[in-house]
Amino acid sequence: MARVALVTGGTRGIGAAISVGLKTAGYAVAANYAGNDERAKAFEAETGIAVFKWDVSSYDACRDGIAAVEAKLGPVEVLVNNAGITRDAMFHKMTPQMWGEVIDTNLTGLFNMTHPVWTGMRDRNFGRIINISSINGQKGQMGQANYSAAKAGDLGFTKALAQEGAAKGITVNAICPGYIGTEMVRAIPEKVLSERIIPQIPVGRLGEPEEIARCVVFLASDDAGFITGSTISANGGQFFV
Ligand code: CAA
Repeated sequence: MARVALVTGGTRGIGAAISVGLKTAGYAVAANYAGNDERAKAFEAETGIAVFKWDVSSYDACRDGIAAVEAKLGPVEVLVNNAGITRDAMFHKMTPQMWGEVIDTNLTGLFNMTHPVWTGMRDRNFGRIINISSINGQKGQMGQANYSAAKAGDLGFTKALAQEGAAKGITVNAICPGYIGTEMVRAIPEKVLSERIIPQIPVGRLGEPEEIARCVVFLASDDAGFITGSTISANGGQFFV
């Protein structure tokens, strides 16, 4: 039986590449999405990957959504917490709403998604949790006090939970992508992207979503069973920890 993998934000950007990468590697994949029905339906039609709509910032929606996935595909054995949003602004212009939306989705979303699958993983003595953090959680980023705080929080969550899961066959790891060529990055003002960001990437280009997906497929595999609490930085040499 194929293992079941659930990818949040799994129909667009890095998440879409992760969903496809896991399907190609033999997993039964469920792709969660929050808003864009049209893109999700197109993704489902193109890939044959089942899509499920809910908002990861709601605990109840996650619990119910995961129950729907498990009813259709079976217990979730691999969870990829990829869903994330930006509300970029210099701090003096950042509103409480911009702060709250990013923390609720990018940080609390990990609690909301992981908590409902955790007991089952413990009972089955196997699980893979892979959290998509960011280079900007490692180094901080001007215009992203909210996002950097949430993504740094994701790394603390990863390290704490790794210790709890280790004796139960559950690994918990993080990936910190640098600037990847997705809609999220292309929404950055062109002048800022070309003059301020790309020159700071030693390999001289944005990353490809598939370059992150391949890290996920590895961390999900049995071969990665001794790796837990780790962070893979995939950023073209932009930042070393
Ligand atoms: N690096 C260096 N300098 C930056 C910068 C950056 N990332 N972002 C902005 N600046 C500079 C600008 O060039 C500008 O400098 P000058 O006055 O010398 O021209 C100054 O900061 C102010 O910027 P803006 O004029 O753009 O000010 P604004 O108030 O209109 O907008 C902003 C501010 C919303 C932060 C906008 O600059 C922006 O979107 N910047 C990009 C922030 C960023 O890197 N976001 C990452 C999104 S992708 C992502 O989050 C995925 C991931 O995990 C990596």
